[in-house]
Parts: sequence; C-alpha cells; structure tokens
Amino acid sequence: MGKTMLEVRDLKTKYVTREKEDVYAVDGVSLKIEDGKTLGIAGESGCGKSTLALSLMGYYFAPLHYMSGEIIVDGKNISGMKPADVQKNILGTEIAYIPQAAMNALNPTQKIIKFIQDVVHAHKVDLSKKDIHDLARERFETLGLPAEVLNKHAVELSGGMKQRTVIAISTILSPKVLIADEPSSALDVTSQKMVIKMLKDMLEKQFIRSMIFITHELPLLYNVTDDIMVMYAGQIVERGCAEDMIFRPIHPYSKGLMGSIIVPEAGEKEKKLEAIPGTPPNLKHPPSGCRFAPRCKYAVPMCHGMTVPEREAGSGRSYRCAFSEEELREMYGNE
Ligand SMILES: Nc1ncnc2c1ncn2[C@@H]1O[C@H](COP(=O)(O)OP(=O)(O)OP(=O)(O)O)[C@@H](O)[C@H]1O
Ligand SMILES: [Mg+2]
Repeated sequence: MGKTMLEVRDLKTKYVTREKEDVYAVDGVSLKIEDGKTLGIAGESGCGKSTLALSLMGYYFAPLHYMSGEIIVDGKNISGMKPADVQKNILGTEIAYIPQAAMNALNPTQKIIKFIQDVVHAHKVDLSKKDIHDLARERFETLGLPAEVLNKHAVELSGGMKQRTVIAISTILSPKVLIADEPSSALDVTSQKMVIKMLKDMLEKQFIRSMIFITHELPLLYNVTDDIMVMYAGQIVERGCAEDMIFRPIHPYSKGLMGSIIVPEAGEKEKKLEAIPGTPPNLKHPPSGCRFAPRCKYAVPMCHGMTVPEREAGSGRSYRCAFSEEELREMYGNE
C-alpha cells in the first residue's frame, strides 16, 4: 500500500442560509487516497460533490460551516485550522482546488505569469521573479503548454488552453492532493482529451501526488480514476475500484447512475439509458432512514425508518443499504 495522501473521517459540514436554515450537504463522509491514485466522485446534480470538495480543503467561509470530522493531508490534521492558516500553509502546497468553471474566474486582463507570481508569493516561497519564470516555463513546457502563454492575458487564450493554464497555475507548487471539480465538462471533445491527458501526466510526473476527480461523465470516470465513490444526498452510498463500480455496482442508486450511461466497447457508440426517476431530496429536510428510499424501486417499508448499515463487500468495497449484496443481486437478476 502507498502512503496515504488524504484521509477524511466522518466529515460533516453544512450551509446556513440567510433564513438561518441548515442544509446538510456533507453528512458523515470518510475517504482515503493513496500516493499516485485518483478517486472519482459521482452523483447527480445537488448531491453535494462540490460542497464536499470545498469542505475537504478546510477553508470555511459563510455560508459553509464545518461541523465535525477530521481531514488529514499527508499526515497533517487540518480540521479546525483557521482559514487564514489554511490559506497560507495548505492551499496550493498541500491541497489545490480547481473549482467548477474555473477558467471563467481568471481575471482576463492579467498576464498568466502574474497569476503564478501571486500563487508563489501567497505562500512566501523564497523565489525571485526570474526563478518563478524559470519554474513556470519548465512546468508549462513539460505539460505541453507553450511557454509564450506565460506572457499572454487570459482573454487571449482559447477555452481549452485557458483551462489547462488554470490547472498548471493552481498546481505550480506541486500539491499533495488536487481536487478537480468537473475540470473538462464545459469543453469541446479535443480540449477535454487534452485536459485529461495533462492531469494524468501531472500525476505521473509527481507534480501532484493524488487527485479527486469529480464528474457527471461516467466514461471519464472509467478512463481517469482508480476508485470511485458514489454520493447521494450528502452521503457516500458506495465505494470501490472503478471497474467494479462501473460494471458491477451493488447499491440501487449506483446501479441507476451507472446504468444511465453504458461505457462503450471499442467501435460502439455511447448509449444513454433512462435516468433514475425523481430528484434528489432537499437537504434542509433529508428523508429519515435511507435517503434514496423515496426513489428506490427496491425499497420496503423498513428502509424509510432504519439507520442504514454500511456493509463491506471485500477489496475495499462498501455500500450503504438495508439489503445485502446477495439480496440485491437476486432482485436485479429477477428483472
Ligand atoms: N451557498 C449555498 N447555500 C445553501 N445551500 C447550498 C449552497 N450551495 C449549494 N447548496 C446546496 O447544497 C447541496 C449540494 O450542492 P452542491 O453544489 O455541492 O452539489 P453538486 O453535487 O456539486 O451538484 P452539481 O453536479 O450540480 O455541481 C444542494 O442541495 C444545494 O442546493
Ligand atoms: Mg458541483
């Protein structure tokens, strides 16, 4: 087993709305990522994927609040750290984050090299302007980005180039964990492939040591991740290696999610099947018992009231359901 780069234990965070209502968007999430590995997070819109990403950085600003749990990055426990300390000592060096639609957040009139200088200076890394330029040029060239980009303004770059540039800027200090939230979803297919290749190269060259990859697109999960967690209504309902999760999901929600897109065989076109009927619950008032029960075609009355057990299924696989894997497989087999 490789060194653990990120470990999270029973993390609970919430939004507090202007009306002072609590939204329990991350409710007891635990995870572990080892050196060199990529963990995928899948789930429908509103399940809490981006909130989990924000929460993992330990960088809490209203309306998002930390409630409980531990976040340990490369042996350092960052839970409960003050936001100013997180910003100075953790972001960029321990954990880097590429938010959803990151490329649109770049100030269009600033030169790319200036963003890099700002990242380096924010961490008080002792490098001269020339050293920073040399570091940036070498990094960009290794990642297949032309060094001229450094002297351009964000507005001069195409969408795909802008996104790859944002990724290179955010990871310039070689963080232990990169959290990439839908890093390629707004791009055309060619740019998407280039972003994915760059992320893989960064792991291989150890510019980043591990990655959390959030996406709606299941074929991407299959191509990019080692392990996958499926999130529903703020909780992890199933986790396991990518192959098992995509081709042999156990939990009814994972099954519905994975079944909504079939990973194409060579030469076959991607098939989209029927989505799961209904919508995820409002997290201000999550259903008691199993949160997926109101939409689950296999649910029985006890599912709505019980505390759902987390079950182990071997090789690091686990799922949260009233039924055992054998019972679920039998129900699936009878369809
Ligand atoms: N600033 C906020 N204040 C209150 N509730 C919020 C806030 N941001 C998100 N939420 C709620 O938290 C829940 C999780 O949202 P989140 O954005 O994390 O989902 P997601 O899985 O990333 O969705 P998507 O796939 O659309 O990006 C949703 O119910 C959402 O309405
Ligand atoms: Mg999101």
